Amino acid sequence: CGITACVGGDDAVGGLLTGLGNLEYRGYDSAGIAVQNGRGLSVVKREGRLARLREALGTDRPTGSIGIGHTRWSTHGPPTDENAHPHQDCTGNVAVVHNGIIDNYETLRQNLEERGHRFESETDTEVVPHLIEEELTAGASMESAFRTAVSKLSGSYAIACMVDGEDVVYAARQGSPLVLGEADGRFFLASDVPAFREFTDRVVYLEDGDVVAVRPDGYDITDLAGAPLLREVDTVDWEPEAAGKSGYPHFMLKEIHEQPESLRQTLHGRVEEMAGRVTLEEFDRGAFADIERVQFVSMGTSHHAAMYAAAQLTARGLTANTYMAGEYADCPAPIDDSTLVVAVTQSGETADTMNAIRRARDAGARTLAVTNVVGSSVTRECDESLFIRAGPEIGVAATKTFSSQVVALTLLGERIAEDSTGVQRAEMRSLLSGLSDLPGDVQQVLDESTAADVAEALYGCDAYFFLGRGPAHAVALEGALKFKEISYEHAEGFAASELKHGPLALVTDNTPVFGVITGEDDLKTISNLKEVQARGAPVVVVAPANLADKVEFADYLLPVPETHPEVAGVLANVQLQLVSYHAADQLGRPIDKPRNLAKSVTVE
Ligand code: G6P
Repeated sequence: CGITACVGGDDAVGGLLTGLGNLEYRGYDSAGIAVQNGRGLSVVKREGRLARLREALGTDRPTGSIGIGHTRWSTHGPPTDENAHPHQDCTGNVAVVHNGIIDNYETLRQNLEERGHRFESETDTEVVPHLIEEELTAGASMESAFRTAVSKLSGSYAIACMVDGEDVVYAARQGSPLVLGEADGRFFLASDVPAFREFTDRVVYLEDGDVVAVRPDGYDITDLAGAPLLREVDTVDWEPEAAGKSGYPHFMLKEIHEQPESLRQTLHGRVEEMAGRVTLEEFDRGAFADIERVQFVSMGTSHHAAMYAAAQLTARGLTANTYMAGEYADCPAPIDDSTLVVAVTQSGETADTMNAIRRARDAGARTLAVTNVVGSSVTRECDESLFIRAGPEIGVAATKTFSSQVVALTLLGERIAEDSTGVQRAEMRSLLSGLSDLPGDVQQVLDESTAADVAEALYGCDAYFFLGRGPAHAVALEGALKFKEISYEHAEGFAASELKHGPLALVTDNTPVFGVITGEDDLKTISNLKEVQARGAPVVVVAPANLADKVEFADYLLPVPETHPEVAGVLANVQLQLVSYHAADQLGRPIDKPRNLAKSVTVE
C-alpha cells in the first residue's frame, strides 16, 4: 500500500491525487482521500484504480489545504469501498491511512466492540481511529491520543491521521517506510519519495519509532514518548520522470531491489524462531493432519516456485507433485481424501491455473490458493488462501513474487509436514533462522553482486544453460526462463543429472553454463560443471560463500551468504535475476514489457 499526506498550499486534493498516481505501483485495488474542508472532514474512497476515485471526486472537488490519501493493496479484506482507506471512528471526526500489518488488531477490535464501537470494514487499520476516538472522548489532546493509540499497536505500520478542526497531520512509522518532503510553503508525507518528487527534492527519511506532527508552517519529529529528535534533510538526485520507478531505470530492477522489504512482509509474524515453529494465522494447528499428498498446479515462474516447494515436501516424506496447470486442466491427476491441491499463482487470474483448480475442486479435492492478490479469482474458487504479501509487481518478468512464493510455500510446507507427520524436524531452527536472515542476506547479495560484469563478459554467446538439482533445479529453470524472456537469447534449464542424457551435445565453448549450488549435497552438480568446462564451456557458479574452495575451478563465481540450503536457492535466484537483467539491459531490450508476453495470461 502507499500512504501520502499534503499540508499547506491551497489544493490538498491536487497534491494528494498526484501523490497517489505516483504511488500506484505500491497498490491499485482501491484508493481514497480525506481533506479538511473547513466544515469537517471530507472523505472519498473507491474500490478499483485511482481513475475511479478521480471520477468520484468529479469537477466539484473538496477544497482544503490539509489532507491524507491512500492507495491500497489488500492484505485484510477484499478490495471494496468499505475496506478502502481512509478509515474513520464512530464520530467521523478522525481519519486514518495505514500501510503495514497490525498483528494484534483482532484483540484490539474485539475489545473496542465490547466497549460499543461499531466497525464498517474488515481491515486491521480501522482499530486505529477508534483507539484515537476513545482517547479524545476521555479528554486527551489529539497529539496525546495519537501517541497512546500507536503505542497499543504491534506489527508494522506507517500511519497518517487527522482530526476535524486541527490543521495538523500526525504520522508514525514502525517497520513500514515513511518519508517527509519539504517544499516551499508545503509539506508532504509518503511511503516513498516518488509521491511528491515533482514538488520537491528535499526529503527527510523518518526512522522506526518516529512520530511526526506536520503543520502548514513546519513540523516536529519526536519519539513515541514525545522527546524531540533531529533528522537530516537529504536531497534526492533523480528526476521526477523516474518517479514511479523510484529512480530505477526499470520496474524489474526496482522490484529486484524491493525483495528485502517484500520478504520481510511475507515472513512478518509467521516465524517463531525461539519456539522453532511456523505460525500461519490462516490455518489452525492440525489443519493438515489428514493430508498425505500435495499436488501443485501453476504456470511460468509460479511453476518453478511450486517445484521448489515440492522438492522440499518430498524431502519431508510427503508425496508432492507439480503439474503445469494447463496440462492438469486437460488431464487431472487422481485425488483422494488425503489430497490437497495447491494453486500457485501470483496474479490469481491465470486461466490455465483457474481451470486446473476447478477440475480439482469438481473432483472433490481440498483446494488452497497461494497468491499475491487478495480478492483475486483464485481466492474465490479455492477453499482456503495463503497470501504471499509481496506487494504489486509491475514488470512482466516475475522477480520479487518468486522469492515470496518460495518463502510462503516453505512455511506452508512446514505446517503441512508437521500436521500430517506429527514430527517437528530437528533442523527446523536452522531453517527458521535462515528464513529470518533472508531479507538481510538478499540485501547483501544486492549490495555486492558482480552479475553485471558476468553478463558483460558473456555477451553475445550462442546459448545459455542453467543446471541444478533438487530445489536448485527449480532455480535453474527459473534462471533460464528469466534470461530468455527478457534478453531474447536462447536459454535452457536442466536437472544437473539430465546433462549427460542429451543436453551435453549442445555444449560448446560458446555456451556458458550456470551451475546453482545450494549446499554440500549439491557436490555432484560440481562434477557435472567440470564436465562441461572440460568441453570448453565457460562455467558460472552461484554458491554459498562457505563452499568457495570447492568451486574455485569456476570461470566466474557469484557467491551468496552462507545459510540453510533450502534458503540458499532464493539467494542464488537473486544473483540470476541480476544476470538476466544486466544481459537484457546490455542488449537494449524493453525489459519491463518483453515482446509477445503478458503479465497476466487470462486465456488458455
Ligand atoms: C505469465 C507471466 C509470468 C507468470 C505466469 C504465471 O506467463 O508472464 O511471469 O509467471 O504468467 O502467472 P501467475 O499470475 O499465475 O503467477
